Amino acid sequence: MRRLLICLLLGSLACSPKSTNEENALATISDPEIMKYAVQGKVLYENYCGNCHQNDGKGLGKLIPPLRDSDYFKASIHRSVWIMRHGQKGEILVNGEIYNQAMPANPNLKPLEIAQISTYLYNIWGMNEGIISSSDVEKYLKEKPEF
Ligand code: HEC
Repeated sequence: MRRLLICLLLGSLACSPKSTNEENALATISDPEIMKYAVQGKVLYENYCGNCHQNDGKGLGKLIPPLRDSDYFKASIHRSVWIMRHGQKGEILVNGEIYNQAMPANPNLKPLEIAQISTYLYNIWGMNEGIISSSDVEKYLKEKPEF
């Protein structure tokens, strides 16, 4: 009887997912309209941003700030949209840590693509900001936000 229990336990361990990095953040989105943007946004994020900010959004030590659970990121969609297009340099304070490395600009990202990345990032990891449309992005890019 005891041996059977141990086998069952081992069996369920062997079946459990190996790494939490493989989580699918999209699984937490239920609205189909948001999902349309976010599916594209995830692909773009992983191509344009994931190398630095990491696919799980946690950043890289003292070099690259996190986007996930980031007070700086949550504070302003306008500013994040601006940074995606224009990059960012100079000291910033994220979750109490100082970061000071340059992020390159993305002059080729179209408003729709920035909208898709933003909608993805602002509707996962516990956030729920709804669709950020390309006309929202165009509006945000017309006026430099406060930093
Ligand atoms: C080459 C590495 C690199 C890439 C690629 C990159 N970033 Fe960054 N990003 C940084 C660094 C470094 C900073 C901090 C800049 C500073 O210290 O002033 C930053 C800052 C930010 C910030 C503000 C800080 C925060 O934590 O909220 C946002 C938002 C952001 N990046 C989003 C993005 C998005 C979205 C993409 C993809 C379109 C992207 N970044 C691509 C390196 C990168």
